[in-house]
Amino acid sequence: MARAVAIDCDPGIDDMMALLTVCASPELDLRGVTTVGGNVGIELTTRNARSVLSLAGRGDVPVAAGAARSLVRVPVSEKRGAHGDGGLGGITLPEPPGTADLRPAAEFLAATVAAAPGPLTLFAVGPLTNVALFYALYPQVAARLDRLVVMGGSIGAGNMTPAAEFNVWFDPEAAHRVLTDPGVPVPTTLVPLDVTRRTGLVDADIAVLARSGPIGALTARALGGYRHGLGAVTPVHDAVAVLAVLHPELITTRPARVHVDAGYGPSRGGTVVDLEPADGPTVDVVVDADVHAVVEALLDRVTSLDQQV
Ligand code: BDR
Ligand code: CA
Repeated sequence: MARAVAIDCDPGIDDMMALLTVCASPELDLRGVTTVGGNVGIELTTRNARSVLSLAGRGDVPVAAGAARSLVRVPVSEKRGAHGDGGLGGITLPEPPGTADLRPAAEFLAATVAAAPGPLTLFAVGPLTNVALFYALYPQVAARLDRLVVMGGSIGAGNMTPAAEFNVWFDPEAAHRVLTDPGVPVPTTLVPLDVTRRTGLVDADIAVLARSGPIGALTARALGGYRHGLGAVTPVHDAVAVLAVLHPELITTRPARVHVDAGYGPSRGGTVVDLEPADGPTVDVVVDADVHAVVEALLDRVTSLDQQV
């Protein structure tokens, strides 16, 4: 039986890659998508999620919008905008048919987890606001999650500040709730920036996508619009989180205590990953990956969508 999954995202170019990877994976039974404000505002992330699903032939998957902003303090940085004004690197996808689910994301997640035929795996690849609200409002339902897989944080340097990675930087209080003090016994995997920066696409990989057909070509154009400042390698952070579940043999994890800095100093939004924890709940942190095989597997998945149409 396919593994029941849901994805909370803020598309976002690499969120688009993550959604396409899920849609291309028969081992995964995608039961719902929730959106959060992050890379762009909530109206755009919701529209983008619905458009990407429709592009992949999965317009039937319900999408529910969640938090428009972070829980406590709205972050400000000139470094925002890496995904372009529309969030998908300058491409415009057709208006998706139908409408979004009217329930707020936390309520929708609770209903989706409760209705799933078995324990559900939740991918969280945007700011953690919706997941924190889900844990706070529905702890008993959240405890039924099979696993939470988060793209976020870093062992070393961040990408928004020297300390902070974007998803944690955007809502540190929510990240603290989910990663440091969840209050619910949910097995959690953290896919940090250190690994996702290494598992990016070079121009030849993007050319493979561009040649595969209409879906690959649009994805390649979106990736071309990613203003990430890393030179020749275009990261696909969020898709690596999906790959970590599809191909656990390609990653190495270590149990760690993850402390989120929710203070107001210069390291706000930073994560301190203690790989030799004395006590407290631990998170399985991805510390290494078979870079070449991860990239190959991602390309295989996304290009397979064009073979299906
Ligand atoms: C994360 O931040 C976002 O910009 C990406 O979509 C990804 O989820 C990487 O730091
Ligand atoms: Ca994201």
